[in-house]
Amino acid sequence: MSVNVIFGSDGGATKAVASRIAKHTHGRAIDIKSATAADFENCTLLILGAPTYGAGDLQVDWEANIDKLAKASLAGKKVALFGTGDQIGYPESFVDAMGILYEHVVERGAIVVGFTDTAGYDYTASKAERDGRFVGLALDQDTQSSKTEKRITEWVSRLV
Ligand SMILES: Cc1cc2nc3c(=O)[nH]c(=O)nc-3n(C[C@H](O)[C@H](O)[C@H](O)COP(=O)(O)O)c2cc1C
Repeated sequence: MSVNVIFGSDGGATKAVASRIAKHTHGRAIDIKSATAADFENCTLLILGAPTYGAGDLQVDWEANIDKLAKASLAGKKVALFGTGDQIGYPESFVDAMGILYEHVVERGAIVVGFTDTAGYDYTASKAERDGRFVGLALDQDTQSSKTEKRITEWVSRLV
């Protein structure tokens, strides 16, 4: 199995998490700024990750490069998502960007794997929820970083 982990990151938290996920999956972490359409397509499992900024917006490099995702051929492709956020500081829009990525890949025909339970988090609203579950792995490096390693390990074990 070949894994590409494509991420955007302002402050470095998501970049660091992407590297950890790449290590666990024996995959490659690629910044969306330098990613090509082929990076989205030439892997058996595509993992996309973004922090949320503003009041529930996609990270700026993802916004600037969203056409790469929009142009990629993802029909039938296995895709997993992760999002970084801050549930104490932004409880009304916790990891919303993961929900935005979800809409994009579903629109492109991808098969999204790796939904997770919302138990263990404390927030009021998230665009990354579907039917009471997160559409991917929600990570909070601001207030729950001690839980991250276990969350990654459990999630990855279901993906690969
Ligand atoms: C101005 C600002 C707005 C933010 N807005 C949100 C938000 O709406 N929802 C959320 O879950 N996290 C929000 N965050 C938290 C970041 O997503 C979180 O710190 C993330 O780990 C940053 O990732 P990065 O270091 O890779 O950029 C915000 C942070 C800042 C500084």
